[in-house]
Amino acid sequence: MIQVLRDIPARRIILGITGGIAAYKAAELTRLLIKQGTHVQVAMTEAACHFITPTTMQALSGHPVLTNLWISNQGINNQGNGSQESDNQSYNSDDGMLHIHASRTTDAIVIAPASADFIAKLAHGLADDLLSTLCLARNCPLIVAPAMNRQMWENTATQRNIQQLISDGVILLGPDSGSQACGEEGMGRMQEAAHLARDIQAFLQPKLLPKLLTDTHILLTAGPTYEAIDAVRGITNRSSGKMGYAVAQAALELGAKVTLISGPTALSAPQGAKLIQVTSAADMLQAVQQQVADADIFIGVAAVADYRATQTSTQKIKKGATKLSLDLLPNPDILGYVASLPKPPFCVGFAAESHDLIKHAHEKRLIKNIPLIVANLAQQAIGADDNELILIDHAGEHVLPRADKLTLARDLLKHIVALRHSLTHPIKVRA
Ligand code: PMT
Repeated sequence: MIQVLRDIPARRIILGITGGIAAYKAAELTRLLIKQGTHVQVAMTEAACHFITPTTMQALSGHPVLTNLWISNQGINNQGNGSQESDNQSYNSDDGMLHIHASRTTDAIVIAPASADFIAKLAHGLADDLLSTLCLARNCPLIVAPAMNRQMWENTATQRNIQQLISDGVILLGPDSGSQACGEEGMGRMQEAAHLARDIQAFLQPKLLPKLLTDTHILLTAGPTYEAIDAVRGITNRSSGKMGYAVAQAALELGAKVTLISGPTALSAPQGAKLIQVTSAADMLQAVQQQVADADIFIGVAAVADYRATQTSTQKIKKGATKLSLDLLPNPDILGYVASLPKPPFCVGFAAESHDLIKHAHEKRLIKNIPLIVANLAQQAIGADDNELILIDHAGEHVLPRADKLTLARDLLKHIVALRHSLTHPIKVRA
């Protein structure tokens, strides 16, 4: 557990609880956050009150709970309990503007659990109760921990809403996969309270994380490339950039300087990363060549198109009655280029395969002559929010079980730090 340092100011969050069986986990989350030194103001939807009572949450947080948009002065009086006394601060809600004031002195709003219905509201900017109004009127980051049945999670509408939240810059924590209250098995469980508390603290108090990558420049590629055929058509793939952006986020958390070279995606770059947007593999190679000189670690997460059209047309090619053949040229191998530099950074590749995953990934690691390759099943990894990784290095295979991409990225970086250290500081065995 990360320790709270005395000289770091307490952080303030609004913990929004929505209706779902996972609401009981919000009680433990509140306890853990307060223990970590976070000031927690709870706000609950009407549905949430059917699952856990405001009295319980008031007792745990030490403050009256916000439930109603129409009652001014309903609570945030911050009489405080012992641990939160120093944070006492009154929100003036006499003017009926509680939904505006509440987020102004808050470092983040965390919705845990976030039901499918509430996620839909957020995605569409609806504000018909206190919590959704608080979210729409906020001027602070929004963190969302989804919790729902697996079919609800997989439903196209929910996935569309989640994509919307991600592109709106909302931070998504989870969900996890596992057994569900309804008896089914799959994605949709809210992350455990301890896991959420750790991630929320990492977000609020980045100074508390061990800075394993201070003074380290990580250069990484993410997303697809787009190889034009004519003015309107091209060759690309379904990489969303989520895995690469998660690696960039995790590297920043560990104190690295991050340069993210990204093909076309709908994502916002993590705050603090230097983003270089490119389109084609040739552009990506050129950007890598310009940035690689002082890179300590290079991570190729991008799904670079293997081929491009030999000839491109600046105009739209007109449809004809006869057969049309496309002549393709192989693209330059960006990771191969970096790995073969006279003084290469520590190189990590990714391999997305549809079959014989381990075999192909082993071969790629040897052909590219890199210390570590990260294997994932293409059909499960591309575009998804969660993934499963197999890290392959000289010592063998190491599985990172299914989890959201940010959790995997954090574990991957810890592995990279340890492997890089062990390869540059080998243990000397006495003869
Ligand atoms: O973006 P997401 O939707 O989150 O999906 C993530 C992902 C599935 C794209 C990612 O996890 C992944 O596996 N990326 C590598 C995709 C791939 O199949 O790469 P590859 O097998 O073609 O190439 C192997 C390695 O060489 C990769 O590190 C790649 O970045 C690199 N490469 C490949 C070709 C090329 N011309 N230049 C390269 O640098």
